[in-house]
Amino acid sequence: MEKYVLITGGTKGIGKAVALCLGKVGYNLILTYASSTDVANRVVSEMRLQLGVKVEALQADISTKESIEKIYQYLSSQSLRLDAVVFNAGLTCRDSFETLNLSEWERIFFANVHFPVFLMQRIVSLMNKGGSVVFTGSLMGIQPHSVSLVYGVTKGAIHALVKNMVKFLVPYELRVNAVAPGFVDTEWQKTKPIEIRKNIENKVSLGRFCEPSELAEVYRMLIENSYFNGEVVVVDGGYSYK
Ligand SMILES: NC(=O)c1ccc[n+]([C@@H]2O[C@H](COP(=O)([O-])OP(=O)(O)OC[C@H]3O[C@@H](n4cnc5c(N)ncnc54)[C@H](OP(=O)(O)O)[C@@H]3O)[C@@H](O)[C@H]2O)c1
Repeated sequence: MEKYVLITGGTKGIGKAVALCLGKVGYNLILTYASSTDVANRVVSEMRLQLGVKVEALQADISTKESIEKIYQYLSSQSLRLDAVVFNAGLTCRDSFETLNLSEWERIFFANVHFPVFLMQRIVSLMNKGGSVVFTGSLMGIQPHSVSLVYGVTKGAIHALVKNMVKFLVPYELRVNAVAPGFVDTEWQKTKPIEIRKNIENKVSLGRFCEPSELAEVYRMLIENSYFNGEVVVVDGGYSYK
């Protein structure tokens, strides 16, 4: 039977690496993105050629409520059923504590926490029994973040959400877990000044950023292993041990 996975923020960085990893083992891919349509179209063409599975991209901004219905309508209009969902897209805001404003706080909270909860509620009936949900959390939800208060708090909320959702997904025979990455060499990290990147590398026991492809294997393991449930798997290269 054909398998389908929906990956939010699946056209770049961690989400794209997870898509490639799952595509290689036969999953058909539905990748959402925010605004880079050219990138999304290119990624879809490349993956179709490289992987030989079905690949579609859907513009669906996680900071708007309308995207929930858009994703639901997309799936149901094509009678698609999902075997896995990866809630990966996430937002941050680096405003100082003194200048943080409520509407920005609410926007980030909506995108990182409310959006996946209510998208999950909307699409749960479209998931096959035995399926799996994986969130992208963050080490910053465990070790307080020095730069973005709302990012750390929302990632901590995602970790709590995963554990709390376990029993609500039992009736649907779905498992739910999170990956909490440390520092992964995606475009997001590549925009950081070199001295900040060096500072990060010095704090990681392995002395380097994680490659998106090596992180993606952990998502695959959580999706395919039938006994992982309610876990937050930290993948930080030994950040806390140096
Ligand atoms: N990189 C790290 O070191 C690291 C560490 C821990 C956790 N994380 C988490 O990992 C996740 C992915 O991060 P990344 O580093 O892979 O990012 P990235 O390389 O910047 O990729 C971002 C992806 O998410 C999409 N996206 C961005 N804003 C969106 C929005 N408002 N609505 C829907 N999609 C949106 C992008 O689409 P467009 O191209 O259209 O914008 C793109 O597909 C995030 O949740 C982040 O918090 C990252």
